[in-house]
Amino acid sequence: MNWWVKPAVAALFCGVLWVLFQEGLALERKIVATAAIAAYALILLRYNKACLGEAEGESGAGVDYLVAYATETGTARQIARQTCKTIRENGLRASLVELNRLVSSPRPSKGLLVIASTTGNGDAPRTGDAWQEEGGSFLRNFASCSYAVLALGDRSYSNFCGFGLQVAAELQQAGAVPLFEPVLVHQGDPASVNYWFRQLSRSAVPARR
Ligand SMILES: Cc1cc2nc3c(=O)[nH]c(=O)nc-3n(C[C@H](O)[C@H](O)[C@H](O)COP(=O)(O)O)c2cc1C
Repeated sequence: MNWWVKPAVAALFCGVLWVLFQEGLALERKIVATAAIAAYALILLRYNKACLGEAEGESGAGVDYLVAYATETGTARQIARQTCKTIRENGLRASLVELNRLVSSPRPSKGLLVIASTTGNGDAPRTGDAWQEEGGSFLRNFASCSYAVLALGDRSYSNFCGFGLQVAAELQQAGAVPLFEPVLVHQGDPASVNYWFRQLSRSAVPARR
């Protein structure tokens, strides 16, 4: 659960009690205020549930593949979701996680798949700029773990796919084992993205018979 959801819902509940016990407030107003506060609490709880769904597997439940994404404008997240979906359609367990939260994710039993874009001048996007915040020692958990990287970028930048390639290099340095060479994608080129899915089906996620 997001840390702030519980206190926020508790505060809203107190708000409901406060409204109900207000003297001199018309009954209709009490009903409207109570309904509005309760609806807001419900929205918060549903939002939190959606967040938990996205980070499924972080609680320690075993997964076959962990799909980590680092994105600035959403493309990498979208491909990561599609990657998770493909894995699940093949009867395997996949969990989606922001790269910045990889540090607190359990090691997957079959492999780590990273989809990362590059921003600035070869820099990490916002959802991946703190993935090594604690010094990167957690990467030891991924030693001997299979991994693959899909790096999104644009050839007009001198540091083409710089961040994705950096992630791949650091995983390899930590002892993780590449399933195949990093797949580099220029401007979201669909042919390269299809190649990623073909590589996955060859090396990692064989189609269900
Ligand atoms: C401000 C900016 C800086 C970028 N810098 C780089 C770069 O240094 N190297 C690169 O290969 N691509 C660079 N790109 C291209 C993005 O990586 C590419 O558009 C990618 O598909 C974006 O994916 P995302 O939506 O997941 O963030 C840059 C794009 C923008 C808008």
